[in-house]
Amino acid sequence: MGNIRLENVKKAFGDAIVIPDLDLEIENGEFVVFVGPSGCGKSTLLRLIAGLEDVTGGKIWINGRDATGEAPASRGLAMVFQTYALYPHMSVYKNIAFPLKMAGMDKKAIDDKVRGAAETLNLTDFLHRRPGQLSGGQRQRVAIGRAIVREPKAFLFDEPLSNLDAALRVAMRLEISELHHQLKTTMIYVTHDQVEAMTMADKIVVLRAGIIEQVGSPLDLYRSPRNRFVAGFIGSPKMNFVEGDKAAKRDAYAIGIRPEHMTLSTDDGQWPGTVRVSEHLGSDTFLHVDVEGAGMMTVRSDGDVPIDHGVRVFLTPDEAKLHRFDADGKAL
Ligand SMILES: Nc1ncnc2c1ncn2[C@@H]1O[C@H](COP(=O)(O)OP(=O)(O)OP(=O)(O)O)[C@@H](O)[C@H]1O
Ligand SMILES: [Mg+2]
Repeated sequence: MGNIRLENVKKAFGDAIVIPDLDLEIENGEFVVFVGPSGCGKSTLLRLIAGLEDVTGGKIWINGRDATGEAPASRGLAMVFQTYALYPHMSVYKNIAFPLKMAGMDKKAIDDKVRGAAETLNLTDFLHRRPGQLSGGQRQRVAIGRAIVREPKAFLFDEPLSNLDAALRVAMRLEISELHHQLKTTMIYVTHDQVEAMTMADKIVVLRAGIIEQVGSPLDLYRSPRNRFVAGFIGSPKMNFVEGDKAAKRDAYAIGIRPEHMTLSTDDGQWPGTVRVSEHLGSDTFLHVDVEGAGMMTVRSDGDVPIDHGVRVFLTPDEAKLHRFDADGKAL
């Protein structure tokens, strides 16, 4: 069981208010991802839940019990950081066993748990090695193993994959998703990575300056962002925004259209422009087009489009996929 509820949570460091007043409910077994710009309070929120920071106001409930004043150890949560914080002189086995040994568990029980976790994480062959003899991905798996053996009510991950190279990130992302399916334990995961947020989360929490802008499933946020901030934050490449005449025609202050929701033509279309940069990714091509009367817009096209810098093109938005915003950025 790992139900976590934040009620009117406030956090200030001296005069600086980082989280003004936040409510959030995390259901048992959910995979919740916190996203938001650097400095918006993601790590702080995680540390408040873990008990590594004290709240300035409000309450934190874990499984219906007021855990606000509790020490980190008695909350029953396990945190995994970007830096693995392994003991360099201990073997993988001893690193994973460490929290259990500290808790005074007997040797046989420890052995069962360590071997079980190693099995789950494909670490069985590495149990005798030291962290220095492992790759970054293997080290992060050891850190996760050390969290798993504690059988926490919830796992708290703070950008656990950001030290890994791109290929390893993808592999570990799948492993953590798989782990979640297997363990069905609540996970709270902080990331900067759009793909991680979209693919791993049951629920994404978009934060800005310590305030929740929107909470929802990845596709809810993608399809129905509540405001311009969320619209611009979720999705990669970013949604294009246009103000002025093109928006006024649709009774909006601004309109938003995603790169994948426009069609590209060299003959005819609604918005004429000139290609400034074309990025050929193989699978897709992203064209950055200087659209007349609208400025730079990004359009997604097929991997094999032969269009390059300087070509005159026309973009046509899919009307059904247009987002409209008022002057305050609220979705209409
Ligand atoms: N111990 C501290 N003392 C003072 N200010 C702090 C402290 N910890 C964090 N802050 C401030 O609180 C704000 C939120 O920081 P936090 O680390 O939670 O951001 P974040 O969303 O995790 O950012 P990033 O994406 O860069 O990791 C920042 O403005 C930061 O400078
Ligand atoms: Mg952080």
